Amino acid sequence: MEMINWKDLLYPYQQTMDELLIKFRNLDAEYRYLGLYSPIDGVTGRVKSITSILEKANRKQIPADRIAEEIEDIAGLRILCQFTEDIPKVVEMIRRRKDMRVVEERDYVHHHKESGYRSYHMIIRYPLQTALGFKEIPAEIQIRTNAMNFWAAAEHSLRYKYSGNVPKALQERLINCAEAANRLDEEMSTIREEITNATRENQIKEGLVSNILDKLHILYFRENMEEAEQMNEEFIRLWNEDNLEGMKALNDKLNVLAETFRL
Ligand code: GTP
Ligand code: MG
Repeated sequence: MEMINWKDLLYPYQQTMDELLIKFRNLDAEYRYLGLYSPIDGVTGRVKSITSILEKANRKQIPADRIAEEIEDIAGLRILCQFTEDIPKVVEMIRRRKDMRVVEERDYVHHHKESGYRSYHMIIRYPLQTALGFKEIPAEIQIRTNAMNFWAAAEHSLRYKYSGNVPKALQERLINCAEAANRLDEEMSTIREEITNATRENQIKEGLVSNILDKLHILYFRENMEEAEQMNEEFIRLWNEDNLEGMKALNDKLNVLAETFRL
């Protein structure tokens, strides 16, 4: 094998990874900022280690000078979802993006692998602007639920430990685990609405409380201590009653007041 300058080879993949991580994390944050349900629960990424790249090049008979073109998962992003239903939403979002190009998709969610592996894979090309110019970098995006991820991590460790030859009995138990993980996803889906409503209610409550306390603070120091104290007591009462409707009303009242002391 000819000499490879690994630092130079991997640098653009690390840049791609950094940019993709920021973009998907910002997207998730923006959903939350807008008060919308985010189909993204978390994003992680890694640049493939040199040993894994060499091992794969070896396994797939890829010559050293073709590694950059032919190994498409040197940059790897993983998007975790709370529910199976979130996966197609994330897939659609990626398909519509103007800042990356999807070149391949594999649906192991509906067609799981023999091992029991479930996940949705997308291979993209990411247009990277480097100091040396424009370059399209391949990356693999794996989209899966937390349950699918939990299983895949366990299976990966065992596969690694046994160098790919997991004993038959253990393989069967892994398949049982994969089925259990899939049942968990199905069960979670049946209470998905309740869970997402509860999450949204919590987020609304957090936003309300933070706004109420902000406005009370301003009212107390800038305008009317007495009125502020009264409203603070009302807030404490509503808080103890866990009265969301009451807090909304108090919040509206404070917003109107805040408008008037701006005048
Ligand atoms: P690779 O040579 O591994 O890239 O396989 P491939 O080119 O046929 O692509 P595939 O879509 O099958 O797999 C790509 C990646 O998905 C792998 O590198 C793993 O991260 C993951 N993966 C695929 N199959 C399994 C599996 O059975 N178990 C686990 N834990 N991960 C898997
Ligand atoms: Mg692959």
